[in-house]
Amino acid sequence: MSCQGLISGVSLSAMGRGLGRGATFYWVNVRIESAAEATPELQKALAALMPQLNPSLQVPSLDHLKAMVADPAVTLLLARDGSEILGTAAVVVYTTPIWVKARIEDVVVDQAARGRGVGEALVKECIEVARHRGAAVVELQSARSREAANRLYPRLGFELRDSNVYRLTLR
Ligand SMILES: CC(C)(COP(=O)(O)OP(=O)(O)OC[C@H]1O[C@@H](n2cnc3c(N)ncnc32)[C@H](O)[C@@H]1OP(=O)(O)O)[C@@H](O)C(=O)NCCC(=O)NCCS
Repeated sequence: MSCQGLISGVSLSAMGRGLGRGATFYWVNVRIESAAEATPELQKALAALMPQLNPSLQVPSLDHLKAMVADPAVTLLLARDGSEILGTAAVVVYTTPIWVKARIEDVVVDQAARGRGVGEALVKECIEVARHRGAAVVELQSARSREAANRLYPRLGFELRDSNVYRLTLR
């Protein structure tokens, strides 16, 4: 398998995946790029993808997307096949009193494009963004029921932590 490119704006990822003897071999060419501006095209793509992450999520407004793109801590990655957006992932890099950390959020690939390495390409590029921006660790959270995600992350080196996840809902 190969996957190339570090982004500072745009990168190309060409990847193939051998699934073992006698199994299918996939090649997929996806371009991983960072969203430079909040456009109606981006909003439309996220409106299709976010319900596939969680059907109860609100579709982000254009104003919300503008604020996200303007936030220097956030890099929103898009996986494109030609002009079509197949998937997305966000990486947030922030500084704590101890270190610079990165957190990967909202990884989702369109149902029709899954199982061909697009999710892997997105997460790998998130890791490269984090590395490039000086993060010492990359963290993410995934519900136990997310079978595909919980196969993908350990394969890319993420280790399961023994920690409770808390949330206080404010709005
Ligand atoms: C998780 C997700 C992003 C992976 O995207 P993808 O493009 O299919 O990723 P890959 O092709 O790189 O495959 C990742 C792993 O998922 C597995 N996979 C793909 N489709 C699967 C399915 N329908 N059921 C079980 N595993 C599946 C692949 O086999 C691979 O695992 P492996 O390395 O053990 O073989 C995608 O399945 C998705 O969007 N799921 C719904 C949203 C979600 O759960 N997001 C993660 C939030 S933490």
